[in-house]
Amino acid sequence: MKIFIDTANLDEIKQAADMGVLDGVTTNPSLVSKEGHKDFRSMLEKIASIVDGDISAEVVSTNCDEIVKEGRELAKIHKNIVVKVPLIAEGLKAVKIFASEGIKTNVTLCFSPSQAILAAKAGAYIISPFVGRLDDISQNGMELIAQIVQIYNNYDYKTQVLVASVRHPIHFVQGALMGAQIATMPFKVIEQLVKHPLTDIGLAKFLEDWKKLNG
Ligand code: E4P
Repeated sequence: MKIFIDTANLDEIKQAADMGVLDGVTTNPSLVSKEGHKDFRSMLEKIASIVDGDISAEVVSTNCDEIVKEGRELAKIHKNIVVKVPLIAEGLKAVKIFASEGIKTNVTLCFSPSQAILAAKAGAYIISPFVGRLDDISQNGMELIAQIVQIYNNYDYKTQVLVASVRHPIHFVQGALMGAQIATMPFKVIEQLVKHPLTDIGLAKFLEDWKKLNG
Protein backbone atom coordinates (compact mmCIF):
# COMPACT_ATOMS: atom_id res chain seq x y z
CA MET A 1 0.00 0.00 0.00
CA LYS A 2 1.53 3.30 -1.04
CA ILE A 3 1.22 6.24 1.36
CA PHE A 4 0.89 9.73 -0.08
CA ILE A 5 0.64 12.92 1.93
CA ASP A 6 -2.24 15.22 1.06
CA THR A 7 -0.81 18.68 1.59
CA ALA A 8 1.10 21.56 0.05
CA ASN A 9 2.89 22.28 3.35
CA LEU A 10 6.60 21.72 2.73
CA ASP A 11 7.48 21.17 6.41
CA GLU A 12 4.88 18.45 6.74
CA ILE A 13 6.11 16.83 3.52
CA LYS A 14 9.71 16.87 4.89
CA GLN A 15 8.62 15.38 8.22
CA ALA A 16 6.65 12.59 6.54
CA ALA A 17 9.53 11.89 4.12
CA ASP A 18 11.95 11.69 7.07
CA MET A 19 9.79 8.96 8.60
CA GLY A 20 10.81 6.81 5.61
CA VAL A 21 7.28 5.78 4.66
CA LEU A 22 6.29 8.38 2.10
CA ASP A 23 5.65 7.32 -1.51
CA GLY A 24 4.18 10.50 -2.98
CA VAL A 25 2.28 13.74 -2.57
CA THR A 26 -1.16 14.94 -3.61
CA THR A 27 -2.08 18.59 -3.81
CA ASN A 28 -5.20 20.40 -4.90
CA PRO A 29 -6.01 24.08 -5.49
CA SER A 30 -7.47 24.45 -1.99
CA LEU A 31 -4.37 22.99 -0.32
CA VAL A 32 -2.05 25.19 -2.41
CA SER A 33 -4.14 28.25 -1.62
CA LYS A 34 -4.14 27.42 2.11
CA GLU A 35 -0.31 27.49 2.13
CA GLY A 36 -0.21 30.70 0.07
CA HIS A 37 2.08 29.32 -2.67
CA LYS A 38 1.73 31.99 -5.37
CA ASP A 39 4.43 30.33 -7.50
CA PHE A 40 2.96 26.90 -8.28
CA ARG A 41 5.94 25.79 -10.36
CA SER A 42 8.47 26.57 -7.66
CA MET A 43 6.30 24.81 -5.06
CA LEU A 44 6.24 21.66 -7.23
CA GLU A 45 10.01 21.81 -7.78
CA LYS A 46 10.56 22.05 -4.03
CA ILE A 47 8.26 19.08 -3.38
CA ALA A 48 10.10 17.07 -6.08
CA SER A 49 13.39 17.79 -4.31
CA ILE A 50 12.01 16.30 -1.07
CA VAL A 51 10.10 13.25 -2.34
CA ASP A 52 11.04 10.79 -5.07
CA GLY A 53 7.54 9.62 -5.98
CA ASP A 54 4.34 10.66 -7.71
CA ILE A 55 3.39 14.31 -7.15
CA SER A 56 -0.15 15.21 -8.18
CA ALA A 57 -0.54 18.74 -9.56
CA GLU A 58 -4.10 19.75 -10.38
CA VAL A 59 -5.23 21.70 -13.43
CA VAL A 60 -7.70 24.54 -12.95
CA SER A 61 -9.10 24.56 -16.49
CA THR A 62 -12.44 22.95 -17.31
CA ASN A 63 -12.34 22.50 -21.07
CA CYS A 64 -10.35 19.80 -22.83
CA ASP A 65 -8.01 22.01 -24.89
CA GLU A 66 -7.09 24.15 -21.90
CA ILE A 67 -6.71 21.15 -19.57
CA VAL A 68 -4.34 19.56 -22.10
CA LYS A 69 -2.32 22.78 -22.49
CA GLU A 70 -2.08 23.26 -18.73
CA GLY A 71 -1.30 19.59 -18.05
CA ARG A 72 1.49 19.45 -20.64
CA GLU A 73 3.18 22.41 -18.96
CA LEU A 74 2.84 20.82 -15.52
CA ALA A 75 4.23 17.50 -16.78
CA LYS A 76 7.35 19.30 -18.07
CA ILE A 77 8.23 20.55 -14.56
CA HIS A 78 9.45 17.18 -13.28
CA LYS A 79 9.34 13.52 -14.33
CA ASN A 80 7.30 12.64 -11.19
CA ILE A 81 4.47 15.07 -11.87
CA VAL A 82 1.07 13.40 -12.26
CA VAL A 83 -1.50 15.72 -13.82
CA LYS A 84 -4.63 15.85 -11.68
CA VAL A 85 -7.77 16.21 -13.76
CA PRO A 86 -11.38 16.64 -12.55
CA LEU A 87 -13.86 13.88 -13.35
CA ILE A 88 -15.96 15.76 -15.91
CA ALA A 89 -16.56 14.92 -19.57
CA GLU A 90 -13.94 17.45 -20.75
CA GLY A 91 -11.53 16.01 -18.22
CA LEU A 92 -11.99 12.46 -19.54
CA LYS A 93 -11.27 13.65 -23.10
CA ALA A 94 -8.07 15.24 -21.84
CA VAL A 95 -7.08 12.09 -19.92
CA LYS A 96 -7.33 10.09 -23.15
CA ILE A 97 -4.98 12.56 -24.87
CA PHE A 98 -2.55 12.58 -21.95
CA ALA A 99 -2.50 8.76 -21.95
CA SER A 100 -1.60 8.73 -25.65
CA GLU A 101 1.29 11.12 -24.91
CA GLY A 102 2.58 9.11 -21.93
CA ILE A 103 1.55 11.79 -19.41
CA LYS A 104 0.31 10.26 -16.15
CA THR A 105 -3.01 11.42 -14.73
CA ASN A 106 -4.80 11.32 -11.40
CA VAL A 107 -8.52 11.66 -12.02
CA THR A 108 -9.98 13.47 -9.04
CA LEU A 109 -13.38 14.21 -7.49
CA CYS A 110 -14.66 10.68 -8.10
CA PHE A 111 -17.84 9.86 -6.19
CA SER A 112 -19.34 6.89 -8.07
CA PRO A 113 -18.30 3.54 -9.59
CA SER A 114 -19.56 4.58 -13.03
CA GLN A 115 -17.24 7.61 -12.96
CA ALA A 116 -14.36 5.31 -11.99
CA ILE A 117 -15.03 2.95 -14.91
CA LEU A 118 -14.95 5.85 -17.37
CA ALA A 119 -11.69 7.15 -15.91
CA ALA A 120 -10.08 3.72 -16.30
CA LYS A 121 -11.35 3.42 -19.88
CA ALA A 122 -9.92 6.86 -20.70
CA GLY A 123 -6.52 5.64 -19.47
CA ALA A 124 -6.16 7.23 -16.02
CA TYR A 125 -3.01 6.27 -14.10
CA ILE A 126 -4.78 6.90 -10.78
CA ILE A 127 -8.42 7.30 -9.76
CA SER A 128 -9.19 9.31 -6.60
CA PRO A 129 -12.51 8.45 -4.93
CA PHE A 130 -13.16 10.87 -2.04
CA VAL A 131 -14.28 8.74 0.91
CA GLY A 132 -14.46 11.39 3.65
CA ARG A 133 -16.69 13.70 1.62
CA LEU A 134 -19.11 10.81 0.99
CA ASP A 135 -19.14 9.94 4.70
CA ASP A 136 -19.93 13.63 5.35
CA ILE A 137 -23.20 13.26 3.41
CA SER A 138 -24.12 9.97 5.10
CA GLN A 139 -22.93 7.69 2.28
CA ASN A 140 -20.39 4.99 3.03
CA GLY A 141 -17.21 6.18 1.30
CA MET A 142 -15.35 2.91 1.79
CA GLU A 143 -18.12 1.00 0.04
CA LEU A 144 -17.20 2.95 -3.09
CA ILE A 145 -13.57 1.84 -2.76
CA ALA A 146 -14.66 -1.83 -2.49
CA GLN A 147 -16.82 -1.47 -5.61
CA ILE A 148 -14.09 0.19 -7.67
CA VAL A 149 -11.42 -2.33 -6.63
CA GLN A 150 -13.74 -5.20 -7.57
CA ILE A 151 -14.69 -3.68 -10.94
CA TYR A 152 -11.08 -2.89 -11.82
CA ASN A 153 -10.10 -6.47 -10.91
CA ASN A 154 -13.00 -7.89 -12.96
CA TYR A 155 -11.74 -6.17 -16.09
CA ASP A 156 -8.04 -6.06 -15.27
CA TYR A 157 -7.96 -2.26 -15.53
CA LYS A 158 -4.48 -0.99 -14.69
CA THR A 159 -5.64 2.29 -13.10
CA GLN A 160 -4.53 2.49 -9.46
CA VAL A 161 -7.16 3.14 -6.80
CA LEU A 162 -6.15 5.97 -4.47
CA VAL A 163 -8.24 6.37 -1.30
CA ALA A 164 -8.65 10.15 -1.08
CA SER A 165 -10.28 12.49 1.42
CA VAL A 166 -9.01 10.22 4.21
CA ARG A 167 -10.00 11.48 7.65
CA HIS A 168 -8.70 8.79 10.03
CA PRO A 169 -6.59 5.59 10.19
CA ILE A 170 -9.60 3.30 9.69
CA HIS A 171 -10.05 4.65 6.15
CA PHE A 172 -6.41 3.72 5.48
CA VAL A 173 -6.62 0.21 6.99
CA GLN A 174 -9.92 -0.62 5.28
CA GLY A 175 -8.49 0.61 1.98
CA ALA A 176 -5.51 -1.72 2.43
CA LEU A 177 -7.79 -4.67 3.24
CA MET A 178 -9.81 -3.96 0.11
CA GLY A 179 -6.70 -3.88 -2.05
CA ALA A 180 -6.55 -0.17 -2.94
CA GLN A 181 -3.04 0.58 -4.15
CA ILE A 182 -2.63 4.05 -2.56
CA ALA A 183 -4.05 6.20 0.23
CA THR A 184 -3.43 9.90 0.57
CA MET A 185 -3.88 11.61 3.90
CA PRO A 186 -3.11 14.74 5.88
CA PHE A 187 0.08 14.70 8.01
CA LYS A 188 -2.05 14.41 11.16
CA VAL A 189 -3.41 11.04 9.97
CA ILE A 190 0.09 9.77 9.09
CA GLU A 191 1.10 10.55 12.69
CA GLN A 192 -1.99 8.72 13.96
CA LEU A 193 -0.97 5.59 12.00
CA VAL A 194 2.16 5.27 14.15
CA LYS A 195 0.54 5.75 17.53
CA HIS A 196 -0.75 3.07 19.86
CA PRO A 197 -1.26 3.69 23.61
CA LEU A 198 -0.06 0.16 24.48
CA THR A 199 3.20 0.84 22.63
CA ASP A 200 3.78 3.97 24.73
CA ILE A 201 2.82 2.24 28.01
CA GLY A 202 4.94 -0.81 27.14
CA LEU A 203 7.98 1.27 26.23
CA ALA A 204 7.74 3.37 29.41
CA LYS A 205 7.64 0.14 31.49
CA PHE A 206 10.62 -1.41 29.66
CA LEU A 207 12.70 1.72 30.22
CA GLU A 208 11.65 1.97 33.87
CA ASP A 209 12.57 -1.68 34.54
CA TRP A 210 15.91 -1.24 32.77
CA LYS A 211 16.66 1.78 34.96
CA LYS A 212 15.87 -0.27 38.12
CA LEU A 213 18.38 -2.91 37.06
CA ASN A 214 21.12 -0.48 36.13
CA GLY A 215 20.55 2.08 38.88
C1 E4P B 1 -6.71 14.33 -2.73
O1 E4P B 1 -6.25 14.10 -3.80
C2 E4P B 1 -7.90 15.17 -2.47
O2 E4P B 1 -7.74 16.40 -3.07
C3 E4P B 1 -8.14 15.28 -1.02
O3 E4P B 1 -7.89 14.02 -0.40
C4 E4P B 1 -9.44 15.86 -0.62
O4 E4P B 1 -9.57 15.77 0.76
P1 E4P B 1 -10.66 16.61 1.60
O5 E4P B 1 -11.99 16.03 1.33
O6 E4P B 1 -10.22 16.40 3.03
O7 E4P B 1 -10.54 18.04 1.16
